[in-house]
Amino acid sequence: MAEVDVAFIQEPVHRPNPSLRQEADGIPLIDLSAPDFDALISDIGHACRQWGFFQIINHGVPPERLQKLEAAARKFFHLSLDEKRKVRRDFHKVMGFYDTEHTKNVRDWKEVFDYIVKEPTLAYASVDEDDDSVVYWENQWPENPPELRELCQEYAKEMVALAMRLLELVAMSLGLPPGRFEDFFKDQTSNVRLNCYPSCPSPDLALGVGHHKDPGVLTILAQDDVGGLEVKRKSDGQWVGVKPVPDAYIINLGDTMQVWTNDEYESVEHRVVVNSVKERLSIPFFLYPSIYTMVAPLEEFTDGKNPAKYRPYRWGKFHLTRRRSNFMKMQVENIQI
Ligand code: SIN
Ligand code: FE2
Repeated sequence: MAEVDVAFIQEPVHRPNPSLRQEADGIPLIDLSAPDFDALISDIGHACRQWGFFQIINHGVPPERLQKLEAAARKFFHLSLDEKRKVRRDFHKVMGFYDTEHTKNVRDWKEVFDYIVKEPTLAYASVDEDDDSVVYWENQWPENPPELRELCQEYAKEMVALAMRLLELVAMSLGLPPGRFEDFFKDQTSNVRLNCYPSCPSPDLALGVGHHKDPGVLTILAQDDVGGLEVKRKSDGQWVGVKPVPDAYIINLGDTMQVWTNDEYESVEHRVVVNSVKERLSIPFFLYPSIYTMVAPLEEFTDGKNPAKYRPYRWGKFHLTRRRSNFMKMQVENIQI
């Protein structure tokens, strides 16, 4: 008999097999302070093509920033559910706490606190062509721990700066000018997520996050030393774990980058396995463009021989409705957005 609620139980084909768990050998570890700039760009290009994932060290974010935020996040998640629900997220307006995330219709074994980096963010305008409603997102902050708000805001600034730097490096690895993507981020809708994965009585049946790809441009993920992130290796389709490296961030590309590059760089599937012993904390930063950005393959990646594989879509509309749609629907054949 399962010890977890049926809502958390994955289909057999998606269940993790703890006895077969293997760690990824060879996810690139990239030193951002490496003196040979050309080699750095080329390493990033290889990592993007071969894995869609890499880890970075010497990235310039002071480790204390993250450590303090992690400590405050743990204090928050250890409050009672009633207390946490005082800052409960309303998916259309207000960021905050929730514990009912579903990925592909199965409930994730985790609790979350989300906040946006720029407030208020114009989250969505014109749901339908003839609807001129506008939605702004705002953050909510818990009373406890009192330091959480400031630590979150400071951390967000570090993440935005690092993301813009990474984006320049990724652009150069594609042979583009470093500022090629800059204009898409004037009013970015990026957010930071605090994830807490409690220990789980049935780690063979449930997942912390079910298999998915990230919808945005790129993700900068901090994970603690417990481990649990698994990547579907491009070379053989095997699920492999991403080993925690102290003070490193994990970078992965999202669907928006895949569309911009017309599949030159792909967004890669990943998931989170849980364990029966230890709670795990992770903090992803999701780099998202401005609300009005039309996402479409860039002209540098399309020509007569290589036509656009995606139709243009507006980021804001996609972002707010993506829980009801999925990435496949955006492909040219059966676009619904
Ligand atoms: C996610 O992909 O949403 C979370 C990744 C992680 O917690 O490692
Ligand atoms: Fe993800």
